Amino acid sequence: MSLLPRITVRRVAGLMTSLFLAGLTYVMFRTDRLFIRREYSWSLHARCLLLQHQLFLVGVPGWSPEGHACRQLNGTELTLNATELLQNAAVTATKGPEPLKNPKPAVEPPVPFDRVNRLRGYVGVPNATKELSLRCRVCAVVSNSGQLLKYEAGNEIDQADCVIRMNDAPVLGFEKHVGNKTTLRVSCFQSVYLVPASGSLYDQAGKSALLGWGPPKDMDTRRGKAHRKLKLVSEMNRDLEVYMLTQERMGYSANVYKEETGKSLEASGTWLSTGWFSMLVAMEMCDVIKVYGLSSENYCKDHPNDTTRYHYYVSKLKELGPKLKECDFYKRHQRTPNGAHRFFTEKTIFARWAHHHNVTFHYPSWTP
Ligand SMILES: *[C@@H]1O[C@H](CO)[C@@H](O)[C@H](O)[C@H]1NC(C)=O
Ligand SMILES: *[C@@H]1O[C@H](CO)[C@@H](O)[C@H](O)[C@H]1NC(C)=O
Ligand SMILES: *[C@@H]1O[C@H](CO)[C@@H](O)[C@H](O)[C@H]1NC(C)=O
Ligand SMILES: *[C@@H]1O[C@H](CO)[C@@H](O)[C@H](O)[C@H]1NC(C)=O
Ligand SMILES: *[C@@H]1O[C@H](CO)[C@@H](O)[C@H](O)[C@H]1NC(C)=O
Ligand SMILES: *[C@@H]1O[C@H](CO)[C@@H](O)[C@H](O)[C@H]1NC(C)=O
Repeated sequence: MSLLPRITVRRVAGLMTSLFLAGLTYVMFRTDRLFIRREYSWSLHARCLLLQHQLFLVGVPGWSPEGHACRQLNGTELTLNATELLQNAAVTATKGPEPLKNPKPAVEPPVPFDRVNRLRGYVGVPNATKELSLRCRVCAVVSNSGQLLKYEAGNEIDQADCVIRMNDAPVLGFEKHVGNKTTLRVSCFQSVYLVPASGSLYDQAGKSALLGWGPPKDMDTRRGKAHRKLKLVSEMNRDLEVYMLTQERMGYSANVYKEETGKSLEASGTWLSTGWFSMLVAMEMCDVIKVYGLSSENYCKDHPNDTTRYHYYVSKLKELGPKLKECDFYKRHQRTPNGAHRFFTEKTIFARWAHHHNVTFHYPSWTP
């Protein structure tokens, strides 16, 4: 007689557990689908950054950084508002287009932004009247790839008249592999957030320039958070000249992609990498460009078991840590329908530019 209620209690408890698990699975599944692929085990932080880009790309109506998912704290940390994240993601979870596999060959190199004043559109922060004026004979464009750890290219890199670096890539501790000179650092807005305003990255460079890029809301000269941070960086580093891309410049860079591939960024489900902006500015300010650490578009295909790290250093973004393999990351991005980089496509395009500009690729060395 006393068995009956006990069984009922167990059944109810079992049912509730199942319901709870089903609900949890559903939420997890949904959440994963909204971003990239299920195999991604990125932290919320990285997902959040990715989402910002998706929102930026598709131009969600009513979306603004003030009310969006990633809340920035003291310039380095972000928290997540899951409610907003899901609401926004529901709007953007559109099926992406096919990733680009075989972009149409360009018949011409990119048409310059301004044939006369080649560096127009790179303006000072906070003084927007000032324009970047760098002219170099030989430039070394140093990628952030783990490839560089296989070589000791540091001395060779430093021999270039100008050295261009990207995002949060450090020099300290890696001089042997990446050299110790920095003339220009090109940085995406997220890296501007990640790097402390006064720290070794900017200190080490001595007299040098920082060139930031980002979406309109972040770069807005009155209210943009990235602009504010760049201003702070400029105030705290007297030797550093700080610049940013105007939105006209951003539009031009996007248009170059469209000219090269026949597809807009939106249609390709992509956003440009810092490498893209770095190559463009290098072609505008340098006579000769030597690219270091950038493997060819075929490298991953030709080296199926390659274990080269994505970055030569450990980024503050833990997802981009030492275990992340470059080829895996490239491949994942290429096949992700939306909000991803097209590293292979960009490499194909850089290789094409090498036929029109004096661009060579080193460590690993390859000829387009
Ligand atoms: C940044 O904010 C986090 C969280 O509020 C805090 O733990 C951390 O100490 C802060 N860092 C600095 C440098 O202020
Ligand atoms: C998260 O966003 C929702 C919707 O905008 C808002 O109602 C809620 O207060 C936010 N929560 C936090 C902790 O900021
Ligand atoms: C801003 O830059 C321009 C051009 O270099 C210069 O003429 C002007 O004096 C600068 N303004 C300030 C307030 O520094
Ligand atoms: C770094 O800088 C110093 C001089 O500033 C130089 O002597 C040294 O060889 C440089 N290169 C490397 C790879 O450390
Ligand atoms: C890559 O690894 C697979 C499986 O371990 C092996 O069969 C193959 O021969 C390797 N390929 C190369 C090019 O080393
Ligand atoms: C590129 O620059 C190098 C170094 O100045 C030079 O030797 C080479 O001839 C140039 N190539 C072309 C195609 O202009």
